[in-house]
Amino acid sequence: MEEYLDEPIFKKIGQIADEMGVSAYVIGGFVRDIFLMRPSKDIDIVVLGSGIDFAEQVGRSLKTQVAFFKNFGTAMLRYEDMEVEFVGARKESYRANSRKPIVEDGTLDDDQKRRDFSINAMALCLNKEHFGELTDPFGGMEDLENRLIRTPLDARETFSDDPLRMMRAIRFASQLNFRIDQAAIDAIVSNKERIAIVSKERITDELNKIILSPIPSVGFNYLFDTGLLHIIFPQMAELYGVELINGRGHKDNFYHTLEVLDNIALQTNDLWLRWAAILHDIAKPATKRFEAKQGWTFHGHEDRGARMVPKIFGQLKLPLNEKMKLVQKLVLLHLRPIVLAQDVVTDSAVRRLLFDAGEDIEGLMMLCHADVTTKNEYKKKRYRQNFELVQQKLKDVEERDQIRNWQPPITGKDIMLTFGLAEGKEVGIIKNQIREAILEGEIRNEREEALRFMIEKGVALGLKVVDDTH
Ligand code: CTP
Repeated sequence: MEEYLDEPIFKKIGQIADEMGVSAYVIGGFVRDIFLMRPSKDIDIVVLGSGIDFAEQVGRSLKTQVAFFKNFGTAMLRYEDMEVEFVGARKESYRANSRKPIVEDGTLDDDQKRRDFSINAMALCLNKEHFGELTDPFGGMEDLENRLIRTPLDARETFSDDPLRMMRAIRFASQLNFRIDQAAIDAIVSNKERIAIVSKERITDELNKIILSPIPSVGFNYLFDTGLLHIIFPQMAELYGVELINGRGHKDNFYHTLEVLDNIALQTNDLWLRWAAILHDIAKPATKRFEAKQGWTFHGHEDRGARMVPKIFGQLKLPLNEKMKLVQKLVLLHLRPIVLAQDVVTDSAVRRLLFDAGEDIEGLMMLCHADVTTKNEYKKKRYRQNFELVQQKLKDVEERDQIRNWQPPITGKDIMLTFGLAEGKEVGIIKNQIREAILEGEIRNEREEALRFMIEKGVALGLKVVDDTH
């Protein structure tokens, strides 16, 4: 394994360990990622002895500052582009109501046992005599080969020690497209309520990593099947299920949402576009109706869904900023391109879409493309063809009319000066008429035409031109 430890810092740490007469190992995610061929800059070092004293010595030798976290018994330094964390090998036990362990010194084996998964418990020795030797007591290598997430100890103990690990198990499975060992799945099911002692921020961190994984449905299926999703994000779990009335069912909105999410994940790594996919149909359960003629309908789910977004973001401690606004907007508009694509695509409908979506038109189009999950090949082909047409028209119309960053060619001030008006109702009416005329294609998006149109409309309202120099 020596070839994987070619950074000079590893030899240096080994040398200091030899001088101090202690054993030092690189452990955890860094070792796992070597075998997954995902080079990492986060290095965890475990020493048999005091991590703090050891880090102090390494810092002195590398002439680098060390940050000490005495409460946790850990220390950290940055060296070149690496972040190196030091900890003494520990034996830990946990209290039932807290994630904070009671810590005692331990052996390497004690330390490895208390880690979350076999693939995260492998250690490489850094002392000269055994440099690069792998210690893998729980079959981490084999689990990597079999693509399996498994805990070193009885899974019930590992998860009950630190319930965040239930989320981590699912997150690693999703990021790596691994299976979770059945015993671990069972332990999540029986410990799931303990997720309540984990902070919302940390849960959401893991959730976001699941969302950003290559096939996010891998993680969401585990979240749903174990029942964790019902606790951490009940609105999404409620999408599940098909109701039948008079032999007529609707599609299962949970699995549809997962398909849309996987589809959009093929197109973008943007977390917020992926969130928009998760939330686009979130109000379907709340708006579901059965109507004798039409069957199942979800009228207004886009509007209601957009209104649900702030509460969900608040609940999950997601940022209540412009990212949330973007998600809201996409949820609100998600049906528009599809409705457009089903009909004759007129220029004015395209201009309106551009006007409403503005800078977010590409994201909206991606979401819409991802939303076509019909299994009927004929329908799918037709949608996609119309969709291409909408894309083309969007391009043409934007080139011609520049609607996406639309600024009115005539300002309220122009209107007031022209007609000698104070601020008031008329100004608003004329402004709207100009915007509508541009969107409808009655006039071009340009000042001269808009001025003429403004005068015409003002006169029709009974106003007099007092200044036509604008
Ligand atoms: N660890 C653990 N239980 C946790 C968190 C971490 O046992 N709840 C251990 C694992 O051995 C893990 C190591 O601490 O490999 C480092 O944790 P962290 O940096 O959070 O994760 P990584 O495994 O490095 O993975 P990633 O960087 O993808 O989060």
